[in-house]
Amino acid sequence: MITIALPKGRLAEQTIDLLRLSNIISKKIDVNSRKLIINDKDNRIKFILVKPFDVPTYVEHGIADIGISGKDVLMETNKNVFELVDLKIGKCNISIAGPKGKKNDIMSIKHKKVATKFVNITNQYFNQVLNEDVEIIKLNGSVELAPILGLADIIVDIVESGKTLKENNLEVYEKLYDITARLIVNRASLKMDKKNQINKYIDSIERMINNENSIL
Ligand code: PRP
Repeated sequence: MITIALPKGRLAEQTIDLLRLSNIISKKIDVNSRKLIINDKDNRIKFILVKPFDVPTYVEHGIADIGISGKDVLMETNKNVFELVDLKIGKCNISIAGPKGKKNDIMSIKHKKVATKFVNITNQYFNQVLNEDVEIIKLNGSVELAPILGLADIIVDIVESGKTLKENNLEVYEKLYDITARLIVNRASLKMDKKNQINKYIDSIERMINNENSIL
């Protein structure tokens, strides 16, 4: 039996579509249902639906053999897993953003306050890349509120369509990293009798991704 950790939230639908097209999911999975474990006994697979930030944790601990996780979450959590395939879905970027039309003024503030869900990525970028001291304020969502309400000067957050920034009168100041979803695998699972089944899934996902790209 192989266990696959699927992320709930923004990546859920695209992940399920991808696994269905790769013939790994044959059962109906409703991402909005409250059911968190789905067994597909015929194909010897169990799917678990977890919060995106928890996918690498389940895979690192071997509770899941395979997981689908955004590169943003992998960079932030830095878990000990194999990152094997760029799934080319969930394209977005991590950016610094702030109030529209005020980039120069705000970026020149010393000891800026930065609100983010991505404390480690933000810390590393400001400390190591920009060599700048900032105060990081950890939020768990709706990060765009922080500069509007005066909790922070800027944010570091995911930008996908750019709609959330636009609707809150914010703009990208600097794009930091391009992000896509990745397939991750538990290190020990690849050494066990599950290896063949896992490799078979990876092959069919890679074939599907390459076909899609050649069609596009
Ligand atoms: C993410 C991100 C932004 C938004 C960006 O939040 O943190 O708020 O999506 O997407 P857009 O560029 O397409 O508008 P998410 O929807 O995951 O919810 P959250 O605010 O609860 O983190």
